[in-house]
Amino acid sequence: MTASLKKLFVKTFGCQMNVYDSGRMVDALAGEGYETTERLDEADLVILNTCHIREKAAEKVYSEIGRIRAVKEARRSDGKQTLIGVAGCVAQAEGEEIVRRAPAVDLVVGPQSYHRLPDILRRAQQGSVVETEFPVEDKFDHLPGVTTGRLRKAGPTAFLTIQEGCDKFCTFCVVPYTRGAEVSRPVEAILAEASALAEAGMREVTLLGQNVNAYHGEDRAGREYGLADLIRALAAIDGLERIRYTTSHPRDMDDALIAAHRDIPELMPYLHLPVQSGSDRILAAMNRRHTRDDYLGLIDRIREARPNIAMSGDFIVGFPGETDADFEDTLRIVREVGYAHAFSFKYSPRPGTPAAGLGAQVPEAVMKARLAALQAVIEDGQRAFNSATVGRSFDVLLEKPGRKPGQLVGRSPYLQSVNVDAPAHLRGEIVGVRITSAGPNSLFGEMTAVRGDDALARMEAVS
Ligand code: 5AD
Ligand code: SF4
Repeated sequence: MTASLKKLFVKTFGCQMNVYDSGRMVDALAGEGYETTERLDEADLVILNTCHIREKAAEKVYSEIGRIRAVKEARRSDGKQTLIGVAGCVAQAEGEEIVRRAPAVDLVVGPQSYHRLPDILRRAQQGSVVETEFPVEDKFDHLPGVTTGRLRKAGPTAFLTIQEGCDKFCTFCVVPYTRGAEVSRPVEAILAEASALAEAGMREVTLLGQNVNAYHGEDRAGREYGLADLIRALAAIDGLERIRYTTSHPRDMDDALIAAHRDIPELMPYLHLPVQSGSDRILAAMNRRHTRDDYLGLIDRIREARPNIAMSGDFIVGFPGETDADFEDTLRIVREVGYAHAFSFKYSPRPGTPAAGLGAQVPEAVMKARLAALQAVIEDGQRAFNSATVGRSFDVLLEKPGRKPGQLVGRSPYLQSVNVDAPAHLRGEIVGVRITSAGPNSLFGEMTAVRGDDALARMEAVS
């Protein structure tokens, strides 16, 4: 008889890096005899992997802990123990304060300490443990390798963290404090992880970093790699057909990376390049260290290198001191760039950041109205981008079952969701698809016999 496994329930908030980190925690805890469960009431250990980027995200954690505490108490009356852990950026930012505010929490672990989880769990049996130091050792050197069985179940795409932290210090942003200074993982470690992913059937990998295009890792010989060099090395891995990266800062889009968009077919024609605001005054107050024209000029150069590239971005409305005229500049830049997709947020003062202490905070009602106006313009752009793909054909990586039986849903090179009538065995394959209709958030298409951007149209034109 095998010893029964303990159950682990993980809930992930926030960005893709947290999704990746949650996976690595699951792998680390598998070695401690934990298997994951979707059911909170059978969990021996609950981990909330949290986000601190905006106030709402941080507050969600406490309401979630309240819900879990009730389950913990019910299980206790059945004689069962439940440990509650808070990981991620709220853990890093609030540390001890979490245990004070929510005594049901047994462990608080910052993002740089996940390799210490087995030890932290043992100590948590004796009373609550808070571990939010930035350790001297690199967690990736001490975490067990990625468990590919877990990934295979999830589909043919995977995240891979290559860089963490940020040295940019935008005045609104808490990331430099929660994730610390910029650190790049060594080249060989990334290539080994990517090869394992490819061997496990992953066809697409998204390279992650808070400031991913500031990547500067070293290989074993001490040679420096920028992101472009790394992407070139990754593109050579058999089976890895698509590479993406996120999130980038405009100041780190160097010539080599722009050239990589021209030269490396595996690098998908989609770029998330946040600008945050279209107003030079606000960009300066945000400490973005570039102007509106710098950004627009950069996009021109990127589009020259890769004319079909789809752009995506992030915007903040209501940064302290933002006037109607500043906001109009933001609307204008959105129209000018023509984003395929964009995220927009109301400014949220974060404790400890320079902008939180500024006067001239914008009233909530103004922020709300600006957000609605901005989202309308973004949605118009998104709809136009999607509609323009109708009648075109391109490759789609089929990722998972679609909404209707007999359908699979996948991603276009431009990261659009595409529903296709396709047999289940094609899941994980890249197929040619001709787009037949487009909604605001997804496309519908039919499989074609050929692959490649507009390959069908080219063939029809020749015949
Ligand atoms: N308030 C609102 N939005 C924020 N972001 C980061 N910090 C804040 C904040 N304090 C947004 C930025 C960033 C994205 C990840 O979250 O647009 O690019
Ligand atoms: Fe935050 Fe991004 Fe600015 Fe770094 S570059 S401070 S992560 S918004």
